[in-house]
Amino acid sequence: MTANGLPELPPDFLFGAATASYQIEGAVDEGGRGPSIWDTYSHTPGAVDRGETGDIACDHYHRYREDVALLEELGVDAYRFSIAWPRILPAGRGPANAEGLAFYDRLVDELLGAGIEPVATLYHWDLPQALEDEGGWRVRGTAEAFAEYARIAADRLGDRVTRWITLNEPFCSAFIGHAIGRHAPGTREGTPALATAHHLLLAHGLATHELRASAVEHGRSAEVGITLNLDRLIPATDSAEDHAAVDRAETMHNRVWLDPLLGGRYPHNEQETWGELADGSYRREGDLEIIGRPLDFLGINYYRPGKLKDAPHDEPDPARRTAADIRVADVPFDGVRHTQMGWPVVPESFTDLLVDVHRRYPNLPPILITENGSAEADEDRTGARVHDSDRIDYIREHLLAVAAAIEAGVDVRGYFVWSLMDNFEWAFGYDRRFGIVRVDYDTLERTPKDSYHWYRALIREHAAKRG
Ligand code: FCB
Repeated sequence: MTANGLPELPPDFLFGAATASYQIEGAVDEGGRGPSIWDTYSHTPGAVDRGETGDIACDHYHRYREDVALLEELGVDAYRFSIAWPRILPAGRGPANAEGLAFYDRLVDELLGAGIEPVATLYHWDLPQALEDEGGWRVRGTAEAFAEYARIAADRLGDRVTRWITLNEPFCSAFIGHAIGRHAPGTREGTPALATAHHLLLAHGLATHELRASAVEHGRSAEVGITLNLDRLIPATDSAEDHAAVDRAETMHNRVWLDPLLGGRYPHNEQETWGELADGSYRREGDLEIIGRPLDFLGINYYRPGKLKDAPHDEPDPARRTAADIRVADVPFDGVRHTQMGWPVVPESFTDLLVDVHRRYPNLPPILITENGSAEADEDRTGARVHDSDRIDYIREHLLAVAAAIEAGVDVRGYFVWSLMDNFEWAFGYDRRFGIVRVDYDTLERTPKDSYHWYRALIREHAAKRG
């Protein structure tokens, strides 16, 4: 710990901030962009709170210069943004859209001009609607289309972008999107939802190959990773039933991704977790080799732990069950603060998660924390200032948790705060504010919050140590 309570982190530790295309860009009908599943979903009555959409969002598409200036003033080493697939390929595949590529050219150049490393995520949930119409992630063809898109993006931007993240949080795409139904496309499915999980992994593996092949062909270097939202799950009691419930949930949240990516296998308890839904019909010989291509880094997004107990099926009829119906129920955390999302603040669970993943996967690559932050309702505004001390505490405590994991031997190389600015928080719309910069959605004016100034000071203090 440093003099003012800031965490002690390795000298070359990377500090960043993160956003995602649909959450900030707006301009959904401009520059030749095609519709995505999030346009369709957000325009479906009742899907998003208050009927809000990403049509305008933070208008970043037009204001990216101002946003890069905020990043420059913040002093971050890197900025994690996502590329909107429907801007590059409005119909999902086929000829690239020059205007879409030109936008990311401008953004990347602006970042490099400000001395900030661009870290690009290829998929942060905005699947071109045309591909959804052909079956979306339920079908193998979408994974193949993703590889083509990855190649186009890498050929064009790979002279300036070195670090690539294939997918953001495939758990959310697969299970919140296709089983819980609270994310686009908003369906509640069984086996097809498990097929989406598999095809997302396959898409990652195929794209990894394309990103590297593009780099080799052009004599460039590329570092490829994937971002997972891993969960730290604890049983509500010590009963065998609650432990088994945690085991099933760990499979759905963590192992379904980590085992094929890092262990060359599918989870041992798939049948116990999903029963006959996990029929494997969507898998082919050789898929595990594609999915298990070595990663240069693993991105981890972390917000909160979960406490779980054993429960009956939500749906008694096996034929109508979704892939999220795994006989598990949430139990509240008592005695801890909860954020505006209703998420418990338990920073030490972050250390536990990182140490646990490190122990379970011997070939774990270096880790980047690609998202962490908090939504707070009670931001106190006086004049031009936004006093968000709860957010500062959250970020500081979670950075301390990362420092503790490093101390315990986990190779964590960087941290990206979620998020640079308030934005469209998916099904919750605009009232959940995660930004360290406030966005006034009437005027689109940006105001750095106290957390922005705090993070800036931390980065400066760290830079001074680097010498
Ligand atoms: C993650 C998402 C990100 C943001 C945060 C709060 O699940 O990747 O887009 O919504 O949660």
